[in-house]
Amino acid sequence: MPAILLAVTGTDPQPWQVRLRALAPQRDIRLWPDRLGDAADIAYACAWHAPRGLFAKLPQLKAIFSLGAGVDHIFADPDLPDVPVVRIVDPDLTMRMTEYVVLHVLAHHRRQRLYDVQQRERLWHEHAQPPASAVAVGVMGLGALGAAAALALASLGFRVAGWSRTAKTHAGIECFHGEAGLESFLHRSEILVCLLPATPATHGILDLKLLRKLKRDGAAGGAYLINAARGALQVEADILAALEEGSLAGATLDVFAREPLPAASPLWRHPKVTITPHNAAFSDPHALAANVVRQIERFEAGAPLEHVVDRARGY
Ligand code: NDP
Ligand code: OXD
Repeated sequence: MPAILLAVTGTDPQPWQVRLRALAPQRDIRLWPDRLGDAADIAYACAWHAPRGLFAKLPQLKAIFSLGAGVDHIFADPDLPDVPVVRIVDPDLTMRMTEYVVLHVLAHHRRQRLYDVQQRERLWHEHAQPPASAVAVGVMGLGALGAAAALALASLGFRVAGWSRTAKTHAGIECFHGEAGLESFLHRSEILVCLLPATPATHGILDLKLLRKLKRDGAAGGAYLINAARGALQVEADILAALEEGSLAGATLDVFAREPLPAASPLWRHPKVTITPHNAAFSDPHALAANVVRQIERFEAGAPLEHVVDRARGY
């Protein structure tokens, strides 16, 4: 039976190995770098920031599975062989991201940072609170994660719009798409949630020019950014400048150009910035290893792989 290689850096591969072994006890699960064995036995690679050039050394490789939704870490390999690259789409991951987005949209909407400060000062003071129905949220990226988050926000009553590359329809969501739709989407959005993939087309998209287009005079009392996508999409100096000049009233950032975020970054101590350590949607091996094993079993039974990434688009 063809072997599966786990090639993981930056996170502990052990829980993946244990779970894959439990789900597929008949399989040979190899762990890079200690137990690579004969590379010609390996048909599948499960990867998270695998070392560049590794996949090209596997002559019988049939597919690469990202251990997350993003595949930018795989496309960063200049020697990537021509095999399908599969991303994770799974209810567990989707629900975790929805939780994160809802939490941070509500935190801005309900002015939680302000109340945290007031609590430290023992200050009992109530601020005017608009209803969700008066607040416009814009979700960039209406894919597996963006669409689910947008629908959850709409169910809370927010006025939700989404922006994608191609046209979409979702009940209760105002859908914009493409370059032509971006301007109108931004002008009506007060809380901007970014769930775009990192591709050449989205690199640095969250810059000062874009942030200045957000709606500042709405019920939310300013414009807010929540980036749970990738650090490569944001220009960190521009976010600081937008906060300084008031184009942004606050930002929640889960992802950064350099991770971990360097201790010297001014973002850490900024009073209007909330930082989380790239954990908006944790890839839980317990839930997601089953997703990968199911895909391999289906593939070996002759069914096509699901969620294969389009190389030309990069997502
Ligand atoms: P999908 O591929 O399902 O969705 C991507 C969405 O972005 C699609 O709606 C797509 O449009 C849109 N899009 C892509 N390129 C452009 C563009 N140039 N202009 C406009 N819209 C564009 O991805 P997921 O929803 O599964 O994941 C999104 C990203 O979230 C991942 O790539 C990853 O980087 C990040 N992520 C972060 C996590 C974290 O913990 N911080 C955890 C998991 C994921 P269209 O529908 O027209 O194709
Ligand atoms: C992912 C991530 O892409 O965790 O799944 O960032």
